[in-house]
Amino acid sequence: MRRVVCPGSFDPATNGHLDIISRAASLHDEVVVVVGANLAKEGLFTVDERLDMLREVTSGLPNVGVDKFTGLLVDFCRAHQVSAIVKGLRAVSDFEYEMEMAQMNYRLAGVETLFMTANPLYSFLRSSLVKEIAKYGGDVASLVPQPVYEQLRARLAQS
Ligand code: PNS
Repeated sequence: MRRVVCPGSFDPATNGHLDIISRAASLHDEVVVVVGANLAKEGLFTVDERLDMLREVTSGLPNVGVDKFTGLLVDFCRAHQVSAIVKGLRAVSDFEYEMEMAQMNYRLAGVETLFMTANPLYSFLRSSLVKEIAKYGGDVASLVPQPVYEQLRARLAQS
């Protein structure tokens, strides 16, 4: 049984995240999408809102679960018998930061990190850009799953 995690802040999940999650799910027995709760205060959405959206958008993937973690990711991995961390790499600019985390996580707990290259359709996509575009009235409908789009519109209409 090979269980892996797809960690992130997911504020909110984008089509790029969903692409990596579904491709990871086709390669492993179980994928747990984990929201890093340390980062919650800075977000547009609460951790619980992010979890709800992730559950909804991954509901068609039977071997994908959703959870949150606080503290170190490797501690979550150890406690949940996770054999590897799966991360998407969009461009060379992601590489340095991701390699640093991967090497540190291996050093801390021997947890491996597997990198998947982003679908070129989504290589420019990140949550912070989506939020900025949506905030100023740009169209993000093709960048995020439909339930996320609706939540984004509702949240930004309030502000
Ligand atoms: O969406 P992000 O910003 O790429 O997510 C980063 C995240 C949450 C995966 C990363 O910051 C993380 O793992 N944080 C948990 C704290 C931790 O384990 N830090 C040590 C990393 S070597």
